[in-house]
Amino acid sequence: MLILGIESSCDETAASVVKDCTELKSSVIASQAMEHQKYGGVVPELASRRHCENILSVTEKALADANITADDLDGIAVTYTPGLIGALLVGVNFAKGMAFAAGKPLIPVHHITGHIAANYLVHPELRPPYLCLVVSGGHTMLVEVTDYTKFRILGTTRDDAAGECFDKCARVLGYPYPGGVQIDKAAQTGDAGTYQLPRPRVAGSDLDCSFSGLKTAVINMVHHAAQTGETIDAPSMAASLQRTVAEILTEKTELAARKTGYTTIAMAGGVSANSGLRASMQRMCQAHGYRLYMPPLSLCGDNAAMIACQGSYNFLAGITADESLNAYASGTAIGEMKEM
Ligand code: KG4
Ligand code: ZN
Repeated sequence: MLILGIESSCDETAASVVKDCTELKSSVIASQAMEHQKYGGVVPELASRRHCENILSVTEKALADANITADDLDGIAVTYTPGLIGALLVGVNFAKGMAFAAGKPLIPVHHITGHIAANYLVHPELRPPYLCLVVSGGHTMLVEVTDYTKFRILGTTRDDAAGECFDKCARVLGYPYPGGVQIDKAAQTGDAGTYQLPRPRVAGSDLDCSFSGLKTAVINMVHHAAQTGETIDAPSMAASLQRTVAEILTEKTELAARKTGYTTIAMAGGVSANSGLRASMQRMCQAHGYRLYMPPLSLCGDNAAMIACQGSYNFLAGITADESLNAYASGTAIGEMKEM
């Protein structure tokens, strides 16, 4: 079974071919990150335009690298939510046109389920059910993966995602977009004990979290220092922030594992590339004897291999779409999704 995956939810135009769910045949990513860097973040219209320009050549290369043509495919999977609407629409309409022209099934994939599936490409022994900490630029949640296409959200952020917190703090500290990876790099040379940062508590669910207060605290400390002529030690602020975020996420995951009884834990999403978070999750899992699965750094960020992989499982579960498939920026809560 050969499935083509197409991803265009943010600033990466990507296409990939996966065989029998997990065998990676090709993966092509055209990143626009450098172009958005001069604006300090993703400019949605620019992202859509670049997707328009690149999507055909990226898809052709993915097919050529896999040594196949569109005729050989069993289905075409595409990210249809969540993300920048103009960016998603490019991928969805391209996939629709291609599926129609080639007479192949069209398979809708929720981007977050794709991030989770990235683990299957490299960890053949990982099988549902398990607990997954999803940490991306727009989402932070603890998800119970009950089957390849069935998911239950146990906890989520009440405000900002962890990635958003990293990105905004990086910006105020003077690091270029994308900020998360810059915080990670800077933290290597900083002292995590220098700045005391708040750990917001969330009333109601103890598996929910909140990062806006932490983000605001860092921004306020930087602004206050600028007003009083003090110097902020940026690498130490980065290290303090990284340690605080890693501890919050690790504690929430530990609590979720204790409450649910899961001993298999996975991580997914761009922020799962963070070295401090990876180390802290490893320590916690080792201490309890839990099995921990993380995607390699190359599969943490946005890519189409994860979409092709999850698309394969969706296809096997009968989750396909017709020509009326639309894209949705958000509002399609995971629990409401057919495949989530
Ligand atoms: O999953 P992703 O590539 O895109 C979304 O679906 O949102 O995640 C992007 C997020 C950004 O906030 C980026 O700064 C963050 O992942 N990120 C990191 C690291 N690498 C990427 N955050 C912390 N440390 C990293 N090494
Ligand atoms: Zn993503």
